[in-house]
Amino acid sequence: RPQSFNGIDDIVIVGGGLAGLFCALKLAPRPVTILAAAPIGHGASSAWAQGGIAAAMSPGDTFEKHVADTVTAGAGIVDEKMTRMMVAEGPARIHDLLEYGVPFDRDLEGKLLLSREAAHSERRIVRVRGDMAGKAIMEALIAAVRRTPSIRVIEGYVVEELVREGRFISGVVARPDAGQSKIRVSFPARAVVLCSGGIGHLYAVTTNPWEACGQGVGMAARAGAIIADPEFVQFHPTAINIGKDPAPLATEALRGDGAVLVNSAGHRFMLDIHPDGELAPRDIVSRGVFAEVQAGRGAFLDCTKAVGKHFPEMFPTVYASCLAAGIDPVTQPIPVVPAVHYHMGGVLTDGQGRTSIDGLWAAGEVTSTGVHGANRLASNSLLEAVVFAARIAESIKGTLPAPKLTEWGDNAGENDDPVTVEDSPPFKILRSLMSECVGVIRTRESLTRAIREIAALERANNRLRFANIITTAKLIAVAALQRTESRGGHFRADCPSDRPEWQRRTYLTLAQAERL
Ligand code: SIN
Repeated sequence: RPQSFNGIDDIVIVGGGLAGLFCALKLAPRPVTILAAAPIGHGASSAWAQGGIAAAMSPGDTFEKHVADTVTAGAGIVDEKMTRMMVAEGPARIHDLLEYGVPFDRDLEGKLLLSREAAHSERRIVRVRGDMAGKAIMEALIAAVRRTPSIRVIEGYVVEELVREGRFISGVVARPDAGQSKIRVSFPARAVVLCSGGIGHLYAVTTNPWEACGQGVGMAARAGAIIADPEFVQFHPTAINIGKDPAPLATEALRGDGAVLVNSAGHRFMLDIHPDGELAPRDIVSRGVFAEVQAGRGAFLDCTKAVGKHFPEMFPTVYASCLAAGIDPVTQPIPVVPAVHYHMGGVLTDGQGRTSIDGLWAAGEVTSTGVHGANRLASNSLLEAVVFAARIAESIKGTLPAPKLTEWGDNAGENDDPVTVEDSPPFKILRSLMSECVGVIRTRESLTRAIREIAALERANNRLRFANIITTAKLIAVAALQRTESRGGHFRADCPSDRPEWQRRTYLTLAQAERL
């Protein structure tokens, strides 16, 4: 039976990435406990973001243009109302980040330096020292959190369960020692904010840290929350292909600066596929790279002409990853492979970050707010995280459900032994299965096989943590089988076009997925 930690927490935030820290800071001086699986700043995809934050702040830019670019990228199913809200609040959130001490790049006059990325019609990305935005933002927020007395940070606690009492979520149960302890600890709370990140590690090749393994979506679905658009998984076309797990990223800003994709014969294959070549939408470039890798020709990002000797100062993170693998990107092409990078789907939330269950809010990649549609526009994810985290803080300040803390389940029927998810054989099997059958290219056959094998893995592994992860895999596979068309990050080789009757979002509960 879980042990209670320390009486009733006011607000528990699950996750120490950008959304979690920003929400805690915005709630101050309201007491908040952040539960993080790893020391904050580690284990969060936000810290690895090489792009930046998109915000319409240049003289020639408008909110309308930013909304239009987001809607176009999202392939027909973006929620425009939510997007308008996000875009309109972007500049204010950038100012908040500046106040927390984020050293965004500035020009010689001291104005914010805005750069451009693929599919953005204007220069609107605020960056830090080339490709260091995520790291710099997280460093500034961690420092701000550490000096805020109302925020209690508990690191190394893996949250395994959202506790539901009737209509309410009344707290969480977590396992210490990075999930390795035999003890489970309960954290009753008046409000829970889920900011547990994405799903990359459900797949064999990903740019995400292992903590992003779909735990949050699965936990929320198991508590009864509605999940939206789980089938939409974004692959980044240029993860560095050096057999590392996670795979280091070669930012798309390199292609923005003119780097080209070639195969081992030196052929620039993207020109055969799309008029925009390397700057085609991310899903199209990913499929182009995937085809070359599958055919054994390999794919390489050649930056030697476009970036050349400026590589070290322009892209220090990518440069370091290449050098560590014995590749000098100044003179050599970088081997690349598509890797799971971002999940457009997740826990359905409204404009206040409320989920479909009272007492549970969510922000960041674990959510599906609708702003990314079927394909996220680059550098909109950090924007979404801060905008909706701030909205949640406002929402929680205004109304808070009364605590209902009488009954705490004893998880009867669950095995209480800790489970090492990262390198356990079933997890490895699941990751290969997801890449093979629910990956860049899907078919009815591959998805049916995935669902069958996921069910077998689930029957053989009933521990809580694994159950959360496998639930997310199941939701992705079921929604992908249901959607008999191709759109954005979801590509079905057996139905390769989009279809008007599918120009809508997917809403799914676990109970519905299990009936399908
Ligand atoms: C990149 O730098 O290529 C990633 C940016 C993003 O995914 O938003």
